[in-house]
Amino acid sequence: MGTSRMFRVFVVLGSAFMILLIIIYWDDVGASHLYLHTPVSPGPKIPHPPPPHQQPQTSRTPSFLSDIDAFVNQFLEPGTGEPTDPVPADTSNQSEKAEERYIPRREWKIHLTPVAAELRERQDQRRRLLQEMCANDSVVFPGKNRSFDDIPNKELDHLIVDDRHGIIYCYVPKVACSNWKRIMIVLSESLLRDGVPQRDPLAIPRDLVHNNSMHFTFNKFWKRYGKFAKHLMKVKLKKYTKFIFVRDPFVRLISAYRNKFELRNEDFYRRFAQVMLRRYANQPTPPASVDEAFGVGIHPSFSNFIQYLLDPQTEKEMPFNEHWRQVYRLCHPCQIQYDFVGHLETAEEDAEQLLRQLRVDNVVEFPTSHRNLTASSWEADWFSTVPVEARRELYKLYEPDFRLFGYDRPDSILNE
Ligand SMILES: *[C@@H]1O[C@H](CO)[C@@H](O)[C@H](O)[C@H]1NC(C)=O
Ligand SMILES: *[C@@H]1O[C@H](CO)[C@@H](O)[C@H](O)[C@H]1NC(C)=O
Ligand SMILES: *[C@@H]1O[C@H](CO)[C@@H](O)[C@H](O)[C@H]1NC(C)=O
Ligand SMILES: *[C@@H]1O[C@H](CO)[C@@H](O)[C@H](O)[C@H]1NC(C)=O
Ligand SMILES: *[C@@H]1O[C@H](CO)[C@@H](O)[C@H](O)[C@H]1NC(C)=O
Repeated sequence: MGTSRMFRVFVVLGSAFMILLIIIYWDDVGASHLYLHTPVSPGPKIPHPPPPHQQPQTSRTPSFLSDIDAFVNQFLEPGTGEPTDPVPADTSNQSEKAEERYIPRREWKIHLTPVAAELRERQDQRRRLLQEMCANDSVVFPGKNRSFDDIPNKELDHLIVDDRHGIIYCYVPKVACSNWKRIMIVLSESLLRDGVPQRDPLAIPRDLVHNNSMHFTFNKFWKRYGKFAKHLMKVKLKKYTKFIFVRDPFVRLISAYRNKFELRNEDFYRRFAQVMLRRYANQPTPPASVDEAFGVGIHPSFSNFIQYLLDPQTEKEMPFNEHWRQVYRLCHPCQIQYDFVGHLETAEEDAEQLLRQLRVDNVVEFPTSHRNLTASSWEADWFSTVPVEARRELYKLYEPDFRLFGYDRPDSILNE
């Protein structure tokens, strides 16, 4: 009887002791999370675990953790993650440190050096310019003064949200938007292949990239969140990183024309080219299909396209197609404070900087383009067929985009 009770007491005490051990062990593992990334992201930005003497039960910790460090660092690029690596000189300030603080998911690309000062300065300038232009009452355009609440839902269809990383991208067609849409699909993991999220932006089929069902845009909030939609948008606009890519407005128009009217595109032929041919090219009965039209060498000229844009009738029928709609109408830069403004003219540098700022440069890479990009230097050639008066009218139509995003007035084209 007495022995059996003693035995039971031992069992209880033993179990309690085991539980205590387990708790302590878990504590170690918990603490190790704080340590793990220390060698990867050096500097004082990582919260340091309490010194061992305050936690006697974890006195084993340092050697246990340095084993894990050594293990993890085997997978890092040689030299970048060794615990013995010298910590880069702390010339950075708080905002730079915030950019560097992330947990790597894949080890193939980890940046320890801060973004070059001139690149950060360039972003500051672009953002400052936007603010100045929005505040300047001599810069006037429709919708400038309205509040975010007054923007109709259908005008919010270009803002793509990635809740996984807290990113909002306003896409502007003809400004590398396919590539950025691909990246948004990868980041939001909205495309599964064999149950696994697609990780390679370039492996996403083209028709899917532009399929609206792949992207969660602001205009879909209403359906999903009902009356909370606008409120949620504002919360996300406040917390998420918002970016946009723009390019020279006239060069964008040339690019749109080349892509939609110099290449066979049945949809654009029927919706727009036929209208232009009828109205501006003396073709009362244009060919019925794009193949027929190309067969007999008929397509609207660049000058016809510009006439179409300047014709007041055009906007009466429907708003400009997104490929030539002004950026200020697509992305509402005076209602939404973009954190990053990329220019196509500096796309590669901007893309690298942006992906680092978003802390996803270890998840995706910006696909390098081998396409024959429309170059600014062709501008004069293209506009040589457009009457000077029309060029000036066109400039007025796109002037807000020129001014908001810092593109110079193309004097050589406008003063003749
Ligand atoms: C941090 O860097 C920014 C951009 O270079 C600079 O404007 C700012 O003054 C710096 N802040 C400090 C505290 O050094
Ligand atoms: C506003 O823009 C005009 C040109 O349209 C410019 O002359 C003026 O200096 C700007 N004002 C401010 C405060 O930047
Ligand atoms: C916007 O508001 C400013 C004053 O705040 C006013 O001068 C300007 O005319 C307004 N613009 C439009 C398009 O309503
Ligand atoms: C977009 O994708 C959805 C489902 O993936 C499909 O049902 C729809 O037909 C696609 N739309 C277009 C225009 O391809
Ligand atoms: C790009 O296109 C332009 C005109 O469409 C052509 O003149 C030029 O040769 C092309 N460049 C390349 C590298 O294909």
